[in-house]
Amino acid sequence: MATTGGAAQVLVASNRGPVSYEVREDGSLRAKRGGGGLVSGLSAIGPDAGALWVCSALSDGDREAVRRGVGEEGVRMLPIPADIHADAYNGIANSVLWFIHHLLYQTPLEPVFDAEFRRQWASYETYNRAFAEGLAEEAAQGAAVLVQDYHLCLVPGMLRELRPDLRIGHFSHTPWAPVDYFALLPQDIRERLLHGMLGADRLGFLTRRWADAFTACCAEFADSAGKTQVGVHGLGADADFLRERSHRPDVEERMAALREEIGGEGDRKTIVRVDRTELSKNIVRGLLAYGQLLVDHPEWRERVVHVAFAYPSRQDLAVYRDYMAEVRRVATEINETYGTPGWTPVVLHLEDDFARSLAAYRLADVALVNPVRDGMNLVAKEVPVVSDEGCALVLSREAGAYWELREDALVVNPYDILETARALHEGLTMKPEERAERTEKLAAAATALPPARWFLEQLEALQDLPGPQAS
Ligand code: G6P
Repeated sequence: MATTGGAAQVLVASNRGPVSYEVREDGSLRAKRGGGGLVSGLSAIGPDAGALWVCSALSDGDREAVRRGVGEEGVRMLPIPADIHADAYNGIANSVLWFIHHLLYQTPLEPVFDAEFRRQWASYETYNRAFAEGLAEEAAQGAAVLVQDYHLCLVPGMLRELRPDLRIGHFSHTPWAPVDYFALLPQDIRERLLHGMLGADRLGFLTRRWADAFTACCAEFADSAGKTQVGVHGLGADADFLRERSHRPDVEERMAALREEIGGEGDRKTIVRVDRTELSKNIVRGLLAYGQLLVDHPEWRERVVHVAFAYPSRQDLAVYRDYMAEVRRVATEINETYGTPGWTPVVLHLEDDFARSLAAYRLADVALVNPVRDGMNLVAKEVPVVSDEGCALVLSREAGAYWELREDALVVNPYDILETARALHEGLTMKPEERAERTEKLAAAATALPPARWFLEQLEALQDLPGPQAS
């Protein structure tokens, strides 16, 4: 779809959209659904909501789709030049802002803010401006615009200048950095990021913890949050979708295949994890904790399998490629150290397959969700909903989901390998009745705010404000 010609009453803006295109060998275009927490959350809104979703053309296929005028109803892809997008997305969003909010820098070598960083920052501004202009063009008088995530921090301020009549919201799907970590950014960049976001009438975060961190940064570096309202909306799992989707034949097929891989004629327990291969997800320490379990409790050898799905993510960045290699290396090492002819301790899959993820959720005895820091973590919320017979949840206290699920999860410090190994053991030995009872309570908490309501809640809050922020 090209443009609404300025008729859209509700607009959503995000870097990644609900669909992306690939050029096939015969020159035709193949559409593929987008992935990640943001897209799964927003996709539930569906085309019926009448919202226009403005996103970026990410691949050559996407840019080709725009050129040919191919697209979905309710989606407008902005054909941002590939080099500008690469600088903004890989350089600033994923190598700087993501690292700042997830506390991922490894001093003394990082971070470095040099001339290259400044060049990339200029692209980040250009990229944000392209969104602000696209939105300004599409939005009807007084429309509500919901801007998503750290890729688009400058959009609210830029859009406010172009269209003071709009109601502008911004939602962060990530954590927010503590003051001392945010302070690592150059002073002018800190200010531009905060002022960009404070151009919104309303800012949303996944937990009170991240909202408070943002407010603290504003108090330190921008005087205050000014007239902008700050709200918390804890995105939940979509129970109806997940329950229906996880009982389709393709999931049943994958369950049978997984049982084969696990072996042991159905007597083996499974510890499941499903993540993007993402530094903050802490997959390597998860594997080390599993290795520790096999040392501390040799009785589990041959009786448990760690099913780990680590799907490719942000592979343009060397640090992500290296991390993937490290995940593979540690898994192989565990298999070589402890494996026997009839038992592979770690079953690792690196190709994305949603049906297989659901199959693993259904089979899991224990789910391991141990990020060093995570905005929410939807896997922690999806597993209890889908689980067939109840699943113990080992959950990091640094995931946003911790605040909603802590009572019935086995909570761990994600850096503590021994504690994580103990929690895995506790999960494996939990009595079936207790496990089922906890799973039920976890599922209730996990689905308290389904995606469609999560979105509507924010839209209504924005529309209920007395009026667009006076400039
Ligand atoms: C996180 C971010 C999203 C992003 C997703 C997948 O959930 O908050 O904005 O879409 O990761 O990452 P990617 O870089 O593939 O879009």
